[in-house]
Amino acid sequence: MSILVTGGAGYIGSHTCVELLEAGKDIVIVDNFVNSKPEALERIKAITKKDFKFYEADLIDREAIEKIFAENEIDAVIHFAGLKAVGESVSIPLRYYHNNITGTLILCEVMAKYGCKRMVFSSSATVYGMSNIPPYNETMPTSATNPYGRTKLMIEEILKDLCISDSEWSTVMLRYFNPIGAHKSGLIGESPNGIPNNLLPYVAMVANGKLKHLNVYGDDYETPDGTGVRDYIHVVDLAKGHLKALNYAYNNTGAKAVNLGTGHGYSVLDVVKAYEKASGKNVPYVIGPRRPGDVAASFADASEAKRVFNWEATLGIDEMCEDSWRFASNNQ
Ligand code: NAD
Ligand code: UD1
Repeated sequence: MSILVTGGAGYIGSHTCVELLEAGKDIVIVDNFVNSKPEALERIKAITKKDFKFYEADLIDREAIEKIFAENEIDAVIHFAGLKAVGESVSIPLRYYHNNITGTLILCEVMAKYGCKRMVFSSSATVYGMSNIPPYNETMPTSATNPYGRTKLMIEEILKDLCISDSEWSTVMLRYFNPIGAHKSGLIGESPNGIPNNLLPYVAMVANGKLKHLNVYGDDYETPDGTGVRDYIHVVDLAKGHLKALNYAYNNTGAKAVNLGTGHGYSVLDVVKAYEKASGKNVPYVIGPRRPGDVAASFADASEAKRVFNWEATLGIDEMCEDSWRFASNNQ
């Protein structure tokens, strides 16, 4: 019996594959490398000294996905594959809807055909929208402000409907807060193409001299230092949360949304300070206007994950920055 990991060559997927292999699980990975590189797979093998089957395929390619299920005994799927750039989703929404939603529909249909009815899905804290007050808990109303966020909301609804239609299905929808950091080996981490949109990859490029300064998007929020506050979570903690979610999916049916966050918020300037300490480099910054669509503060009520998975994050902001820097400086 194997676990299929879609998007396993990506940032969160590769870290989760390491944890799965280290826990002795058999995995099969499918990825089309739209936002990752084949080296990530070699590095997963180098870290774990374990092998796995890999299919280079697009989730939209139904035949290719059927072939994976025909050739392997898949009894659960961890579904990371999706496009995730918020700004890009505004300019090319149809591509986002097609890739994320059609891809998930095809995956679910093929799973059902092969009697595989367990899925752990990568949702996002973005589903809490702009009007809830943090800490966000899973019972709060959800909404979205951009096509990327809407794909997450829609997929959550699709998975709920699927579980209502067939009581054998089990789907766990993990609402990630802000994953950062990298594996301790420095071999896998986050390496976006071009100029990063997200804070940590940007700060890393300022620290290693590739970018001149960080633009801080606003210092007039109602937060302790006026800059945006987020719940940064170490990607290895996040990856471990997937093993717990998988275990939950084996022992329960129905659709379940669970936050994966630390419950603690850090401001942009807190992150800059922690990164300077971790890297020994200066991270110059310039205060600029707010970024449209940003909320002042976003952090999790992390109690449901503790209650249902017996999981909680263990790594703090210093380790997140140290591990991010190790990866960034190894992979210049
Ligand atoms: P990533 O881009 O590094 O990984 C996604 C992987 O999926 C990539 O390897 C990409 O090549 C692959 N992929 C995309 N579309 C595909 C398709 N149609 N067929 C096959 N492979 C495909 O992203 P990540 O940061 O690892 O995120 C993983 C998931 O978690 C995504 O669904 C993302 O939306 C979600 N998420 C990420 C964050 C974050 O901050 N990184 C936060 C919340 C949710
Ligand atoms: C962003 C997305 C969110 C997505 C998440 C993970 C937006 C509005 N939100 O979340 O939907 O799920 O990434 O991909 O794009 N910041 C700066 N300067 C920068 C970059 C960021 O000051 O160059 C600030 C932001 O204003 C924010 C914090 O840093 O306060 C974190 O930003 P980011 O890493 O982009 O994450 P989110 O905005 O939380």
